[in-house]
Amino acid sequence: MVDKPSQGQQMWGGRFAAQPSDIMQSINASIDIDRRMALQDIAGSRAHADMLAETGIISEEDNEAIQSGLDTVLEEVRAGTFPYRVELEDIHMNVEARLKELIGEPAGRLHTARSRNDQVVTDFRLWTRGAIMEARSALSGLQVALLRRAGENVDAVMPGFTHLQTAQPVTLGHHLLAYVEMIERDRARLHGAAIRMNESPLGAAALAGTGFPIDRDMTAEALGFDRPMANSLDAVSARDFALEALSALSIAATHLSRLAEEIVLWSSAQFNFARLSDEWSTGSSIMPQKRNPDAAELIRAKASLITGQFVSLQGAVKALPLAYAKDLQDDKRLTFEAFDTFGLCAQAMTGMIETITFNRKAMRAAAAKGFSTATDLADYLVREMKMPFRDAHHVTGRIVAMAEADGVELEALSLQSMQTVEPRLTDDIFSVLSVEASAGSRQSYGGTSPVRVSEQVELWTKRLGLEANT
Ligand code: ARG
Repeated sequence: MVDKPSQGQQMWGGRFAAQPSDIMQSINASIDIDRRMALQDIAGSRAHADMLAETGIISEEDNEAIQSGLDTVLEEVRAGTFPYRVELEDIHMNVEARLKELIGEPAGRLHTARSRNDQVVTDFRLWTRGAIMEARSALSGLQVALLRRAGENVDAVMPGFTHLQTAQPVTLGHHLLAYVEMIERDRARLHGAAIRMNESPLGAAALAGTGFPIDRDMTAEALGFDRPMANSLDAVSARDFALEALSALSIAATHLSRLAEEIVLWSSAQFNFARLSDEWSTGSSIMPQKRNPDAAELIRAKASLITGQFVSLQGAVKALPLAYAKDLQDDKRLTFEAFDTFGLCAQAMTGMIETITFNRKAMRAAAAKGFSTATDLADYLVREMKMPFRDAHHVTGRIVAMAEADGVELEALSLQSMQTVEPRLTDDIFSVLSVEASAGSRQSYGGTSPVRVSEQVELWTKRLGLEANT
């Protein structure tokens, strides 16, 4: 006589006499997390059941019952009426148990030639593939916002920094486009991860494949995978797809964090380069004058949470022998949280950029401080007086020291004082000392000159599929 599982007994409970302890259930259950894969789990089961019928492993009637039962399960999930039960551990057993309640015996045939080990990672690959698409489109939105603001500011001069010390004048358009470039690489990295992960683990079964005559190409195709994975052990063990997605996400979040840091600096009273809109600022409960850039600060912090999620998953995987082990259950929590956090950060950044006001006057004034055109003076000596650059650097250094001693900028020094260092200098030198002349002269490919920046704005407008001047 065979014991049938009774109500409330675990699906795997055949060989057990007692129920798991409550704490065992708490540490073991993942339904609160993996319920987010309900749609993927249903899609995977549909594809699997169709294949089982097509290959004659189950009957057509059983498949029809399974498919119509899964229709109902899908409706319940969509309507929010699906009864998620913690004692059923995870989404896979919740869906199967519900199917059993709905259609009876045929539900028990669905798990033929399948294991939760290939099932979970099939669902997870599908989920991650979708999440990558969303992250990439959020990043496109941010690129559009940055590009628009760059287009408005191709000729707005600001200080360019190295070591956060004034280095050379640059244009704000150029600065913003630097992020558009970074984000494009982030999008490409995510895309590469999506392409590599798009192979089907379904049919690997527990770890060794199955004796049933399954058709893995059929399920792979039905789920939009490029092909079935070639090694069943790899299929159930591999989490490098999630690691790759998280590492790409972590790099992208790092870029958001750098921009966030600049927004924090720029919106301070000391810089005064930018003002966040009311929508994206918060006040202080005690200091009435405050406009705090909280969203930028939060993005800065959350970027490290995402990196932490990548590192946590890597730690979970790095010492796992093949094949599946339960350590892998927490992969989803980490990945879901990282994508959620990232989506929020990308949208918040887009909102800030769309509505930030740049203080072009303050930026220009700051650009003119700190002897920012000293390189232009040295370049002039090289060009016009044929001085070796090293000598020109030295001469310029002496002129800067003089200006510093007088407490004035280079442009404000008299020709006479400059001539005490280099007697051949003429009035012409003043033509290179303004910040506009400096930025305007940097016309090398990739340079900050408004001419080059306008070209890049035009190129990006086409690349992002936007209309010019909108
Ligand atoms: N909930 C599990 C996970 O997320 C599903 C796989 C369970 N497999 C097993 N052999 N216990 O990893």
